[in-house]
Amino acid sequence: NTSTSVAASQMRNALNGLADSVKDPKTKVAFETEMDNFFALFRRYLQDKAKGTTLDWDRIQPPQSSQVIPYDTLPRVEDPKLLSKLAVLKLNGGLGTSMGCVGPKSVIEVREGMSFLDLSVRQVEYLNRTYNVDVPFVLMNSFNTDDDTQNIIKKYEGHRVTIHTFNQSRYPRVLKDSLLPATKDYHSPIVDWYPPGHGDVFESLQNSGILDSLLEKDIEYLFLSNVDNLGAVVDLSILDHMRETGAEYIMELTDKTKADVKGGTIIDYEGTVRLLEIAQVPKEHEQDFKSIKKFKYFNTNNIWLNLKAIKRVVENHELELEIIPNSKTIPVDKKGESDISVIQLETAVGAAIRHFKNAHGVNVPRRRFLPVKTCSDLMLVKSDLYSMKHGQLMMDVARFGPAPLIKLGSHFKKVSDFQKRVPSIPRILELDHLTVTGAVNLGRGVTLKGTVIIVANEGSTIDIPPGSVLENVVVQGSLRL
Ligand code: UTP
Repeated sequence: NTSTSVAASQMRNALNGLADSVKDPKTKVAFETEMDNFFALFRRYLQDKAKGTTLDWDRIQPPQSSQVIPYDTLPRVEDPKLLSKLAVLKLNGGLGTSMGCVGPKSVIEVREGMSFLDLSVRQVEYLNRTYNVDVPFVLMNSFNTDDDTQNIIKKYEGHRVTIHTFNQSRYPRVLKDSLLPATKDYHSPIVDWYPPGHGDVFESLQNSGILDSLLEKDIEYLFLSNVDNLGAVVDLSILDHMRETGAEYIMELTDKTKADVKGGTIIDYEGTVRLLEIAQVPKEHEQDFKSIKKFKYFNTNNIWLNLKAIKRVVENHELELEIIPNSKTIPVDKKGESDISVIQLETAVGAAIRHFKNAHGVNVPRRRFLPVKTCSDLMLVKSDLYSMKHGQLMMDVARFGPAPLIKLGSHFKKVSDFQKRVPSIPRILELDHLTVTGAVNLGRGVTLKGTVIIVANEGSTIDIPPGSVLENVVVQGSLRL
């Protein structure tokens, strides 16, 4: 197709031009590798656009029983021997933009003055102390998160944990109209670049040299997870299962409930396991995809990988992760001009499952998936429902059933607003369902039980007095006259 090849060659020329703007020879080589990887991604994007990407729905089947192993059937393992072969990696390239944060999401305070980052460092430190091992703790940062992260981890210098950091790739955003880079040269402002999603972890591990340095230390396995998943702790049984089965890739899946129907699911596609994301599903089959009976599990993004296998697939350029095009607008500096539309091409680590040998899923208990994506999640993990031990959150044994459903409205979107409106977290051990909308402030020492609905109408504010006990009530504020 001519327009595809014209767009590809124009991009290639533009990228060569960008590389020419790098003076230092060593930096230039690294930058060229990065741009080559970007170009491969861009070219695949053009091809996908030309021929379409949707999977043939009739060939999609729920996973076979051998493709998802129930966690309960794994033998309980207490033997720490394999820990000397393990490294832990947290994906730390994302900003907490959807929670209104300016810096890395990992620095949000979660409990007792500790951030996501602090909690995961504590977990690994505890492992190292308990079993007398030195499990490396690796952070994949992006150019957006690296500076803040480096400052924070300084405090762990005297601790029993070895921290390695590396940066994921920095790719040029693409102008929607011309399909050329928004980026003018190597030093272009930050808004002209983007981190290409966590699927970038494979190439970045290789390009940064971290992959080789782990292999030199005889590390074989990598346990990777989102930094905001507080349930992602090292599990010796899954690690041992990995050794036992020789699987190069294990994805932890958990049972899908009606609340998580949009999550990526595992499928059988002509005998191989694949990840299916809602974006790949033809419109007319979306309800099918969301069915919790047909597709019972979703991806937690807790993923166990064999490091030698990563090396192999990267060196052989085998990875072709499905591209997720993400549209954004960036401001132009000239006054009076409207924003420019750009696209950024991203990939996800879960999509790599089909490239590894003996890859399969393990169906884990919900406790291994405790993500914080909104302030409603934050309220939950900060509450009396959990207690913290060695950086790990444990649900109170007195709790009957799953965690309560909490829905805080748009007045609680930003962490700073949440902190102002909820200066002390209510007791929620006996809460089933909470909905709060409008300008509501909770006093100190409030207890919520059963189903509680608080609605402040537009223009009015509701202040819940300190020490209140609300049980199965609807509190509604009228318009302020
Ligand atoms: P999410 O996709 O949930 O989003 O990242 P996010 O970027 O953290 O958050 P919002 O949407 O801006 O609020 C899942 C995990 O992947 C990491 C994030 O740091 C998080 O741990 N991530 C995401 C990367 O490491 N690199 C990326 O390019 C994107």
